[in-house]
Amino acid sequence: MIRTEICDMFGIDHPILLAGMGGASTPELAAAVSNAGGLGVMGASSIGPRGLRDWIHRCRDLTDKPFGIDTLLPASVRRGTNLKSMSNGPLPQDLIPEYQEMVAAFLVDQDIPPADDKNIWPEPDGPPLLSKEFFEAQMDVIIDEKVPVYVSGLGNPGPWVDRIHAYGGKVMAVIGAVRHARQVVEAGIDAIVAQGHDGGGHNSPIGTMALIPQVVDAVGDRVAVIGAGGITDGRGVAAALMLGAKGAWIGSAFLASEEAGLFDGQKQAIVEATEESTIVSRAVTGKPARMIKSKWTQLWQESGREPLPMPFQTQISRPALFAANFAGRSQDVNPGFAGQGIGMIKAVRPAAEIMAEIVHGLEATLTHQFNELVR
Ligand SMILES: Cc1cc2nc3c(=O)[nH]c(=O)nc-3n(C[C@H](O)[C@H](O)[C@H](O)COP(=O)(O)O)c2cc1C
Repeated sequence: MIRTEICDMFGIDHPILLAGMGGASTPELAAAVSNAGGLGVMGASSIGPRGLRDWIHRCRDLTDKPFGIDTLLPASVRRGTNLKSMSNGPLPQDLIPEYQEMVAAFLVDQDIPPADDKNIWPEPDGPPLLSKEFFEAQMDVIIDEKVPVYVSGLGNPGPWVDRIHAYGGKVMAVIGAVRHARQVVEAGIDAIVAQGHDGGGHNSPIGTMALIPQVVDAVGDRVAVIGAGGITDGRGVAAALMLGAKGAWIGSAFLASEEAGLFDGQKQAIVEATEESTIVSRAVTGKPARMIKSKWTQLWQESGREPLPMPFQTQISRPALFAANFAGRSQDVNPGFAGQGIGMIKAVRPAAEIMAEIVHGLEATLTHQFNELVR
């Protein structure tokens, strides 16, 4: 069995973590990965505080193993710097009506009926999605519930580190550049996820193969570095370990699992995809993210309009993408975020089977291939 220091840190058997993927990494998926000896991390970026508590309870009902929660803590939103004007002059919030008009015309053109508002936004009586108050309310629940591992997908979890350590929890941060690694390490976190350009979701401009060793060199003597981005099978995990990482944070490989919180059309899009099927676009959240090419990404490429900064772009994208999902059009309009490794995914399978294959592939690569190479 291949073990590293993060196995002891998190109380897991294999140095493999399910990446927190907003909406996709459900309690069911996280529990399945934890039960298979990895660390299941739920993707709770868009789950309101009440829903988040339910998710934690659901996960605890399904596993007695450690698990984690990933949310977003973007500095631009917490500091309000997202409110400044766009490059062409107007304030982002002033452009919302004009952008909504463009999207309404797109939906008509695609023959997709608009979705009912009450099915789109989490907990309308709570803080608005992706606002500073929303992030803080999520953190209060995570701390109150003593979640074993907290991961910030964007931003610096520094202000919450002491409260999480006080109950014995661990804190990680996802970063995509060495300078961000240095910043979050100063905040006293326990481990860091270095996610490269190949990965699905919010995206670093630096390739995974180049990013991991440079983050290891910069901060690897202070915290465990976990590699991410395009790691889709045991060979990828072995490569991350060879680059100095202590484990792998794997997202897309679990998207076509039975437990992932995706629509069938989205899982089908992954199964049919090749390594060329993704694009980095700001069309969904306003920040660059890797996603499967679709009619939605094409709309923004051809519109000549700059997507709005986070969180305003979500006000434009979420109603349209939900409408596409409800109309059975997720495959061509909203296939979702995914990394460049999805060309390796050939079928929808139970998460336990995917985990077992990754673990077996890791062991096989490190033993057989090594023996073959050393003469
Ligand atoms: C569908 C999807 C949703 C994601 N949502 C989040 C998120 O909410 N928070 C976060 O930290 N990262 C998110 N990510 C990025 C993952 O945490 C992870 O870094 C990435 O999936 C790793 O690359 P891979 O997909 O090639 O394995 C998302 C990725 C995907 C594919």
